Amino acid sequence: MATIAPSILSADFGRLGDEVRAVTAAGADWIHVDVMDGHFVPPITIGPLVVEALRKATPLPLDVHLMVEEPGHLIPEFVKAGADRVTIHVEACRDVAGVLRQVRASGAKPGLALNPPTPLERVRQFLADADLLLVMTVNPGWGGQPIVDGWQEKIAAARRMRDDAGARCMIEVDGGIKPHNAGAALAAGAEVLVAGSAVFGSSDYAATIRALRA
Ligand code: DX5
Ligand code: ZN
Repeated sequence: MATIAPSILSADFGRLGDEVRAVTAAGADWIHVDVMDGHFVPPITIGPLVVEALRKATPLPLDVHLMVEEPGHLIPEFVKAGADRVTIHVEACRDVAGVLRQVRASGAKPGLALNPPTPLERVRQFLADADLLLVMTVNPGWGGQPIVDGWQEKIAAARRMRDDAGARCMIEVDGGIKPHNAGAALAAGAEVLVAGSAVFGSSDYAATIRALRA
């Protein structure tokens, strides 16, 4: 069964609590929270204060995706605010294994993300330390971008690499996922689908989440 994680990046930030309650009622499994620092990616989004507010708006796991350069010092604050999962970028840390272990020691589930141009080889050695492998299928920074070419092959290769390594991390796909390509993402081996504009840009969140699952 697919795990559906709506990304609040495309929600109405003026009514964020209502938006999160609405996708919770509409059948979402996790809430995906995109944190951007203005360095690793050009935009700035939100920090622990907003995660703390989201924590009160939903019982669902908060899947926090840190698009942040050297995020180590911020991790305790995000976990304290209520992050269940904290995913860091392999391109953003000098000591990837150390930061993954720091996430676990703080009490959250560590995830590792990689950008479309980054080869899977870069993450292989860290699979045992991660509970989630987030494969970006757009260049990070913005919602609503078209999915990159070759994305299905990368998901399939990530799934093979995970299975061959006997690792347990879930495979999450993030970027450009819509009802029309969700089935292909699952067939390629993804287990968690992040969808921002597809969900929050639709008029019926429950119908869109059902369509992503089907
Ligand atoms: C992009 C973010 C994504 C984004 C996906 O940097 O990591 O989570 O919200 O948006 P869509 O689903 O619209 O491509
Ligand atoms: Zn994301």
